[in-house]
Amino acid sequence: MTSEATINRSYSLPKEQIPPTVVEEINEHERSELTQKIKLQLEQRNALIVAHYYTEPDLQVLADSTGGYVSDSLDMARFGNESHADTLIVCGVKFMGETAKILNPEKRILMPELNANCSLDLGCPVDEFSNFCDAHPERIVVVYANTSAAVKARADWMVTSGSAVDVIQYLVNKGKKIIWAPDKYLGDYVQKKTGADMLIWQGACIVHEEFKGKELRTLRKNHPDAKVLVHPESPGSVIAQADLVSSTTGIINAVIEMDAMKFIVATDTGIFHKMKEAAPDKIFIEAPTAGKSATCISCAHCPWMAMNSLRKLSRVLDTGDNEVFVETNIAQRARNSIERLLIFTAKKPANKLAGDA
Ligand code: 13P
Ligand code: SF4
Repeated sequence: MTSEATINRSYSLPKEQIPPTVVEEINEHERSELTQKIKLQLEQRNALIVAHYYTEPDLQVLADSTGGYVSDSLDMARFGNESHADTLIVCGVKFMGETAKILNPEKRILMPELNANCSLDLGCPVDEFSNFCDAHPERIVVVYANTSAAVKARADWMVTSGSAVDVIQYLVNKGKKIIWAPDKYLGDYVQKKTGADMLIWQGACIVHEEFKGKELRTLRKNHPDAKVLVHPESPGSVIAQADLVSSTTGIINAVIEMDAMKFIVATDTGIFHKMKEAAPDKIFIEAPTAGKSATCISCAHCPWMAMNSLRKLSRVLDTGDNEVFVETNIAQRARNSIERLLIFTAKKPANKLAGDA
């Protein structure tokens, strides 16, 4: 069965709305001073860092060494939900901070940078989305984690890259028709895998959208021994060449578990830190975007993830600024769609890194 129709309007963001990817420079002396200071600040506030794999290595190292957590968006939500800290510092993008707040209304949630957003979230304005859902009341509304709290509140289910296929398959088996938002590439991928009847919102991740199928084919010819690992926010022409399509955790697990020594990786380059840690002897090659000297915009590193830095982290621990709030009535409804996924995936703990307890 193919999707009945897709939404006409494209939600690709105009270039002016995409900030440049700027990684804050820091020397060894400042890094070490800030790291020591943040460790003390975390203790004083009974705070933990929850970071995404795409954030800067300094933040990931600090999260790991202070009892915090580095993971994909599903496990970041789970960890926050289970942690006993009073304060969680979410190093990632806005929807991750909101999800942490929705699941932990009693905790203080801080973010190093409140302007760290996501093109998928920005490309799915709640009013338009809500009107669209109202026009198709017979359909179950499934939204990707990379959406605002208000969009999640309008949904029946929230899913992540690591759970989307399983959830949609479950709904297909129950005979349901779906509204899917906002990522069109992930939506197409899930639709092909499950045969679901899906109306697909036309949003895109500005980072993954830049991976190029034609150039990837050439790169594969030059590295015939390499396995190709692809995040499902990538275009179909890239997904079609993958040895594995998976969430960020799934991609990291693959470099541990697959026999190959060489991998071409189509996701944000922030992931290379954990990959090198997990498999130091293996070789990782960036999948081609338009090329650094040509026209790529993000060049495979998310401009919003890059806004998180040690300096900003220390500052919010000092000041308590950048607290995340979600309106109570939105939070309550969004929580239902998030918890549906947490309950669904609890039966199937798929997201642990290989080797983790
Ligand atoms: P994961 O849930 O696979 O970590 O993906 C989140 C994301 O923002 C990818 O761009
Ligand atoms: Fe959003 Fe893409 Fe950045 Fe992930 S990498 S946060 S999907 S813009």
